[in-house]
Amino acid sequence: MTEPKTVVYPGSFDPLTNGHLDIIRRASKLFDRVIVAALNNDAKNPAFSLEERYDMIKKCTADLPNVEVDFFHGLLVDFARKKGATALVKGLRAVSDYEYELQMAMLNKHIDPKLETIFFMADIQNSFLSSSSVKDIARNGGSIKGLVPAEIEEDIYRKLR
Ligand code: PNS
Repeated sequence: MTEPKTVVYPGSFDPLTNGHLDIIRRASKLFDRVIVAALNNDAKNPAFSLEERYDMIKKCTADLPNVEVDFFHGLLVDFARKKGATALVKGLRAVSDYEYELQMAMLNKHIDPKLETIFFMADIQNSFLSSSSVKDIARNGGSIKGLVPAEIEEDIYRKLR
């Protein structure tokens, strides 16, 4: 019998966008178990607490039985190893993402050579989308409809307006 394939999809998810959710859905069709892991990116000052981000991701993935949500402090590779993951999943929107993602993939591979990083190309309609722009629009009174899952639209407005 082959081992179930577990992958970790890490990110700040500050907040989750339709682009993230699309990657989660696509990964859930290809792998047995997808763990969405919200981590604090030290380079960014998050607007939502890890618990708030966890709750929003949980709400939006409730219909996906092989998707789990978690959050973690520390090294991503340690978390992935603890969860029995064979790969990390990341999304690539544009060439501009490539350099940063390549660097992270190479460093993670250096720390744990057995852990692969698998990239999903963002859907064209999400290629312009980022959590930062969602926050910017919501803070300034614009509409984020169609940019984030409908289930969390109000949570985002409530926090940022
Ligand atoms: O959504 P983001 O902000 O691009 O996600 C970046 C994240 C959280 C995946 C990255 O910062 C990360 O992996 N942080 C955990 C700490 C770690 O393992 N650092 C070494 C990676 S090179």
